[in-house]
Amino acid sequence: MRANRSLYLGIFCALATATLIHCQSQTGYISIDCGTPLNEVDRDIVSGIYYASDDAFITTGVNFNVSEEYGYPKNLNLPYVLGDVRAFPQGNRNCYSLKPSKAKDNLYLIRASFMHGNYDGSGGNEKALPEFDLYLNVNFWSTVKFKNASEQVNKEILTFSDSENIYVCLVNKGKGTPFISGLELRPVNSSIYGTEFGRNVSLVLFKRWDTGYLNGTGRYQNDVYDRIWSPYTQVSWISTKTDAYIDIFQSGYRPPDEVIKTAASPENDDDPMELLWTSDDPNARFYAYLYFAELETIEKNESRKIKIMWNGSPVSETPIVPSSKYSMTFSNSRAFTGKDHLISVEKTVDSTLAPILNAIEIFTVQSLDEFSTAIEDVQAIESIKSTYKVKKVWSGDPCSPRLFPWEGIGCSYNNRNHQIKSLNLSSSGLQGPIALAFRDISLLESLDLSNNDLHENVPEFLADLKHLKFLNLKGNNFTGFIPKSLLKKIKAGVLVLSADDQNLCNSSSCQDKNKNNMVVAIVVATSVIFLLVVLVIIWIVLRQRKRGANSGPRPLLPSGKRRFTNSEVSSITNNFNKVIGKGGFGIVYLGSLEDGTQIAVKMIKDSSFGKSNVPSSSSSSSSKQFQVEAELLLTVHHRNLASFVGYCDDDRSMALIYEYMANGNLQDYLSSENAEDLSWEKRLHIAIDSAQGLEYLHHGCRPPIVHRDVKTANILLNDNLEAKIADFGVSKVFPEDDLSQVETAVMGTPGYIDPEYYRTFMLNEKSDVYSFGVVLLELITGQRAIVKTEAGDKISVVHYVEPFFETGELDGVVDPLLRGDFSSDSAWKFVDVAMSCVRDRGYNRPTMNHVVSELQQCLAAELSRES
Ligand SMILES: *[C@@H]1O[C@H](CO)[C@@H](O)[C@H](O)[C@H]1NC(C)=O
Ligand SMILES: *[C@@H]1O[C@H](CO)[C@@H](O)[C@H](O)[C@H]1NC(C)=O
Ligand SMILES: *[C@@H]1O[C@H](CO)[C@@H](O)[C@H](O)[C@H]1NC(C)=O
Ligand SMILES: *[C@@H]1O[C@H](CO)[C@@H](O)[C@H](O)[C@H]1NC(C)=O
Ligand SMILES: *[C@@H]1O[C@H](CO)[C@@H](O)[C@H](O)[C@H]1NC(C)=O
Ligand SMILES: *[C@@H]1O[C@H](CO)[C@@H](O)[C@H](O)[C@H]1NC(C)=O
Ligand SMILES: *[C@@H]1O[C@H](CO)[C@@H](O)[C@H](O)[C@H]1NC(C)=O
Ligand SMILES: *[C@@H]1O[C@H](CO)[C@@H](O)[C@H](O)[C@H]1NC(C)=O
Ligand SMILES: *[C@@H]1O[C@H](CO)[C@@H](O)[C@H](O)[C@H]1NC(C)=O
Repeated sequence: MRANRSLYLGIFCALATATLIHCQSQTGYISIDCGTPLNEVDRDIVSGIYYASDDAFITTGVNFNVSEEYGYPKNLNLPYVLGDVRAFPQGNRNCYSLKPSKAKDNLYLIRASFMHGNYDGSGGNEKALPEFDLYLNVNFWSTVKFKNASEQVNKEILTFSDSENIYVCLVNKGKGTPFISGLELRPVNSSIYGTEFGRNVSLVLFKRWDTGYLNGTGRYQNDVYDRIWSPYTQVSWISTKTDAYIDIFQSGYRPPDEVIKTAASPENDDDPMELLWTSDDPNARFYAYLYFAELETIEKNESRKIKIMWNGSPVSETPIVPSSKYSMTFSNSRAFTGKDHLISVEKTVDSTLAPILNAIEIFTVQSLDEFSTAIEDVQAIESIKSTYKVKKVWSGDPCSPRLFPWEGIGCSYNNRNHQIKSLNLSSSGLQGPIALAFRDISLLESLDLSNNDLHENVPEFLADLKHLKFLNLKGNNFTGFIPKSLLKKIKAGVLVLSADDQNLCNSSSCQDKNKNNMVVAIVVATSVIFLLVVLVIIWIVLRQRKRGANSGPRPLLPSGKRRFTNSEVSSITNNFNKVIGKGGFGIVYLGSLEDGTQIAVKMIKDSSFGKSNVPSSSSSSSSKQFQVEAELLLTVHHRNLASFVGYCDDDRSMALIYEYMANGNLQDYLSSENAEDLSWEKRLHIAIDSAQGLEYLHHGCRPPIVHRDVKTANILLNDNLEAKIADFGVSKVFPEDDLSQVETAVMGTPGYIDPEYYRTFMLNEKSDVYSFGVVLLELITGQRAIVKTEAGDKISVVHYVEPFFETGELDGVVDPLLRGDFSSDSAWKFVDVAMSCVRDRGYNRPTMNHVVSELQQCLAAELSRES
């Protein structure tokens, strides 16, 4: 946003002409005053440039003002941007992100300015001054250091941009906190500077001298590129000056008038003008740009011819003859390399006049030889960063420069493009499900997501990460099961997974689901439930004996759950004040916990068990096993399963405490006046929620849990109409009616019982699928599981829908309360799914996985109609 604003700053220029003689076009400029409060835009009085605050360009760092003795108003000549700074006490690398208007393949001048000004109250003495590095994108630009707190340091670079974004990064080398005062970007004509040596290098400014002129500020408003020229002379030089017009537009270099209209020449015509410097880096490569224009009138018998020498060798093949009409720029075509450098501007032998030099710029070449991170990885990690609002100093390129990759990121540096190899987001406050973007980091080998607040399922797509060897999911709130494809990898020994057992099915007990295993597992499940019933009986006997012996109650239920005393139960139900349900086992009361959570308390009547035919044998080992099994059932957690809050088990009473669901059960809801407002979309959500609950019991738990009593009365709705399956498993532990029934009779509720199960007594998960089909039919028709026909017969809702289904009469099926307000594609698909669930033979019925995905498609169809 702010970058765009500076594009408009050119407009201010028109207003500025009133007070300024020269008006600089600031089109394409990005001018940032680092450390200025948000939304301030101000004009530097001297340069006329409008500066914006830096909030739009960086998210990290802390603002400071320089201390009074260095800043305004004491120091009137202080450039505007130097009055305040942004410092970066945190993170190795903090980057400004500049987005110029035409970034690609354009040449830019970028200037960063610094003045310490004792901003941190450290005294500003030499020892307290930091030293840090500046990077442009992924490549080293320059080291920033200071002689004293008032020194003004400018770093300037000319670079081609090959992406939309230009990053200017401050890198902390452990020698003090980096800070910055100002940052400027200026578009430069792309056919000058550096075109000779290709676009894979940048030019870092070494010197830019306006020779022959000593009075200027160095910054001229008619320099379209906003270069800063330092006045420069030597004792043996003299200055010349002209007021004549000199065309600066002949070449793209466009030196400002003041610069080109002054020149230096040697006092003694025959002397060379010498510029001498030593480079710290013997491999440094230098390019010089020399500016010439003739400022004097040349007589016919006179001539000015100039040759340029570097370390004694000629640089120019033909002599330079400056023109009085236009400016010209000369530069070396081959870089000056070595430690010592001497540029000498001399007159040729046949020149009658002394050499002149109007201006000179010297640059060093900075190779752009570091590679950036692969674009796919950058996009993925940026997406992760924004999805989870990652609070790390993550700016600039993730992997490069390689000494300072993003915190928590490890990279492979073998390829032309760097790629992310490891990602540690442990304890980083991530919330929500695992984002799809992780899948796009194709070389990822290690992913640590531990100790966050991630929830929902562990997604299947993690298995698409071919190189993933280490995955840590501990300390999150995942539900569901570990996908088969991941388990395969774990088994094959190519992946090490760390996860919590309490929410996820433990990997070693989660087996591949092929058909044979399934049958085995179901048989196991059935026998487990049966065993539970037996164990309950044993436990009751033991409990009654213990009671006689007046010993303390033994913990029945897992210690992780809350255990209440009878008096606590009495107080949380406000002395059993409000009855919200009744069953064969006892009465359900409404209660609330200290934190206000509403709960349902199921009081278990002792007499429920009184009729039991108690086996006389008992052993402490089977009692222990009961606890283990009960624990297993009670640790089942899923968003779409009514959750168990705690229990009471003392001498006087037994109670099970559940989450309270404000909207009661689906059966009641469908037959109440609320059904009027139950849109097709809401019904689809309810269907999907409950399907997911069942899917979890069937496929998320090992051994799988077959509910055996799926019905609308066992689907509860909370105040957001989110559906949860109730009474799974536990209903077998505390059967409502005669315990002996369990051993022999088919469990379930008329209207919902799988006919195959009824015939064969062979229980499997497909029996639940059948019952769920009935639930789906109730949802769409608004009828009960058993429909009373006009003729007074009672038929199953399945038989009620069948004739309409066969003749394709959707209107005959759909609840008139929906008043035709639904997508017929969606509704048809829904009926189709429901009817496939109630097929006669179990193996013809879909699995719950399949049902969930079909229902989601129904929802998608409905949503696309709505939009
Ligand atoms: C810097 O000084 C200005 C006023 O001169 C003030 O508004 C601003 O809050 C100061 N900034 C900081 C970081 O102290
Ligand atoms: C600070 O250092 C600069 C550059 O060396 C020098 O020009 C200036 O005089 C110094 N200022 C003080 C106050 O020492
Ligand atoms: C830059 O590209 C030129 C060719 O355009 C090549 O000769 C030169 O070696 C490259 N330099 C670097 C540092 O890659
Ligand atoms: C600089 O300014 C002084 C006084 O203002 C003047 O005498 C001198 O000629 C000027 N020098 C140049 C090179 O313009
Ligand atoms: C850029 O420079 C080239 C040659 O130096 C010139 O022909 C061209 O007109 C310039 N472009 C602009 C936009 O000034
Ligand atoms: C050029 O001619 C002028 C007189 O017109 C004379 O004063 C000057 O010395 C001549 N210069 C040279 C280099 O011959
Ligand atoms: C991730 O970082 C945490 C601490 O920041 C560390 O304890 C853990 O070992 C790291 N994980 C990996 C895989 O290196
Ligand atoms: C898991 O969720 C519960 C409540 O939903 C929350 O209290 C708990 O802090 C979460 N656990 C983690 C590790 O975030
Ligand atoms: C599952 O349990 C086994 C043994 O109890 C244990 O070795 C393994 O690490 C657990 N798996 C996970 C994913 O925690």
